[in-house]
This record gives sequence, structure tokens and C-alpha cells, in this order.
Amino acid sequence: MIFQKLSKKQKQVFKWCYQPDSYALICDGSVRSGKTAAMSCSFVHWAMKCFHKQNFAFCGNTVQATERNILMTIQQMTDITYYYKLKYIGSKHILTISGGGHENYFYIFGGKDESSYKLVQGITLAGVLFDEVALQPESFVNQAIARTLSIGNAKLWFNCNPDSPEHWFYKQWIQKADNNKSNILHIHFDMQDNPMMTPEKIDRTKMLYSGVFYDRYIKGLWVLAEGIVYAEFSKEKHVIENYIPENSDEYYISIDYGTKNPTSMGLWCLKQNGHAIRIRESYYDSRKKGHSRTDEEHYAELEWLAGDLADKIRYIVVDPSAASFIECIYRHRKFRVYKADNSVLDGIRDTATLLHLGYLQFDKSCKDIIREFGLYRWDDKTQGDKVIKENDHAMDDMRYFVRTVMWRTLKQIRRGEKI
Ligand SMILES: Nc1ncnc2c1ncn2[C@@H]1O[C@H](COP(=O)(O)OP(=O)(O)O)[C@@H](O)[C@H]1O
Ligand SMILES: [Mg+2]
Repeated sequence: MIFQKLSKKQKQVFKWCYQPDSYALICDGSVRSGKTAAMSCSFVHWAMKCFHKQNFAFCGNTVQATERNILMTIQQMTDITYYYKLKYIGSKHILTISGGGHENYFYIFGGKDESSYKLVQGITLAGVLFDEVALQPESFVNQAIARTLSIGNAKLWFNCNPDSPEHWFYKQWIQKADNNKSNILHIHFDMQDNPMMTPEKIDRTKMLYSGVFYDRYIKGLWVLAEGIVYAEFSKEKHVIENYIPENSDEYYISIDYGTKNPTSMGLWCLKQNGHAIRIRESYYDSRKKGHSRTDEEHYAELEWLAGDLADKIRYIVVDPSAASFIECIYRHRKFRVYKADNSVLDGIRDTATLLHLGYLQFDKSCKDIIREFGLYRWDDKTQGDKVIKENDHAMDDMRYFVRTVMWRTLKQIRRGEKI
């Protein structure tokens, strides 16, 4: 990439580190607001101007994410490659940058990767850039910071999208930075601060989020997740009476499995245009019925649900913790079965996006999922984003379907392509 021009806030990012007494920079705010691009470029320039034969770190959520978000950005930046020579050793995750008589070493770490924990303990760092710091464990971030303490003019660079106001990073860093006496500069970005974002691009990005995710990722606010989880659901928009089958339709079943808790199964029709309809469901509450089903009994229910569509079911996605039931489906050799992706918050965010854009619909016979939509709530009494674990069974099977099956729809929506 080439920086077209820098916005006022991006210029500040390039200058802050040369001010006396500056210690840390925090850029938070909306997605795609130009935080990572401006910070990674100015970080490299600062390191190369001020140091020689020193170690630095780029920290992200995982090593892979950091390679994609930071390393690739830097390697493609003419504003860097014009001045410096870059050499990356992938097996060691070290980028060597040389130029202007200086050479420095930039380690890539992932806050969630076990190996990064061990490696970061052993080195001394003259500067650390934390990309998406709100996704990294506090203990990892503190360890990396501890490695900079022996170097007098070391500096810290943080960026993130907002999360809950109970989040450790908000409490430990942002609130302290906003206290006048601190030597930490806090810059709040929104999409207008990225010169690349045209009004059309801003509108398209806005469409991708709703509810608490809109407040955080678009408005850039640190707000609690509270109230109904899927406030975008409405019977008028999402419940249909007659779904029309077409030859190109694909069918899937998603299952949330419980022994004491209810077991919920949804049969979905995925249209070629990326839209999905839950056409049938089964919901078995053993407490209400006074009898727990065995895996074989659940399996019989699954066959009943598939019914006349059994031959057309592409695969079944099941709660990954339901090992015995997955084995049971597998042994019958009738359906392909996969463990579902169970990342709760990512799943809720993606499901909210699809509901908001009208990509998910429900046949009116699916009474239990329609009921749960009205009851499924955020738990505002605990720290961090948690849902109340009640009335969440059809909600969970829908989330498994979305994360495991609808990834192509989501990818195309994010790229702005019409399906
Ligand atoms: N000044 C600029 N000129 C050209 N492209 C830019 C500029 N600032 C940011 N970009 C581009 O905009 C996109 C989003 O920026 P990024 O830094 O990744 O946003 P954020 O980290 O805030 O989500 C990236 O593709 C980036 O290269
Ligand atoms: Mg970023």
C-alpha cells in the first residue's frame, strides 16, 4: 500500500514518539479507521531512526493474525520498503529490517499462543506494538511490557476496537491515560480518520454490524452488552410461512446437545444466494418430559427430523462437546457429521450481522427458536461479555450453523460482493 495522505490523527501517530517524556500511545475506536496501518509504519520508522541492533515486538491475538495484519502490511508498504530492506524468517517469526546504517529485529508474537509466552520471557525489547490488544490476555501483555523496563527510552504502542467498559485494558490503560498527568497519549479514531474510507465504504462497513457490535465497532464506544442479544429479530422480518424449495438448495442440520438440558436440532435450507431458512426443528426438554433420552433415542429423532430430505442433507454440525453423540451419528454411517465451531462471541456477532441483513429466516413452525429469540439475554451482572445460560439451546444450534456452514456468505458480505 501507499499512504495517499495522512489524516490529522494519523499524523499525530507519526509524531508522538519524538516528544520528550512520551511513553505510550493508545489508538482505539472504529474498525477500518486506519489505526494499524499508521501505527505499524510509524513504529518501524521510529525504531529504525532511534535504535541499532535492538529487539522489538509485534504482538497480536495469534502469531498467524499478526503475520497477516502487521507483517504483510509492512512488507507491502512503499513508505517502508523504499527506505529499508526487510528479511523475514518464518520458522523463527523474526523480521530483520536494515537501512540508514541501522539493523533491528522485530519478533512476531501471538498473545494466545503458548510458545509466545515462553519466548517473550527471555528477551529485552526496546518497543512493543500491540495490535488488537483487547483480544490479548492481560498476563501476556504485562510480560511483554516487563521486557521493556530495562531500556530507558523504550515505548509502547497499543491499538484496539472497543470492548466492554469492564475490560482490563479499558480500566488499566485507557482510564489512566485520560488522567491529565499521564505520559500516555490516547487518540480516538473513527472511520473518517482513514483517508481511504469513502462515504460508500463507510456505509458498507456500517451495514455489517448491529446492536452492541455497532456501538463498539462503528461508533467506537466502550459499552456493556446488555438486554436482549438479538434485538434485530422481528417476526415480521424473519418469520415466513411458505418457503419455496429449489433444485440448487443445500440442507444441513445443526444440533445443540444436552442430557439434562434440552437438545435442540434445526434443519436448514441454504439457498444459492447465501440466504438460509430454518425449515424444521426439534426441541426435547428432558426435565419437562421427565425422561432423559439416550444417544440412540436422540439419533432416532434426528432421522425423523431429516425425514424426506435425509438423502439431501450435506452434513450435520454438532456441539463439539457432545463426543458420544457425534460418535453415535458417525457409527450409523448415514450422515456426515462435524464438530461445530463454538466461539461464542464471534458466533453471536456473525449471527447478528446475518439477522440484521435478512440472511436468516425461520419457518413459522419453528416455535422454540422463535420463543428463545425473545428470552436470550446478555448477563450484565458478570464481567465481560457473557450470555445468560438459559433459553439458549436453539440459539446455540443456530450459532453452530452460522459459524460452521455460513462462512462463505459472511466472507462475501464482508468483501462487499453480491452473492
Ligand atoms: N492514509 C492512508 N492511505 C491509504 N490507505 C490507508 C490509509 N490509512 C489506512 N489505509 C488503509 O485502510 C485500511 C484499513 O486500515 P487499518 O489500519 O487496517 O484500520 P484499523 O486498524 O483501524 O481497523 C487498510 O487497508 C489500510 O491499508
Ligand atoms: Mg487494525
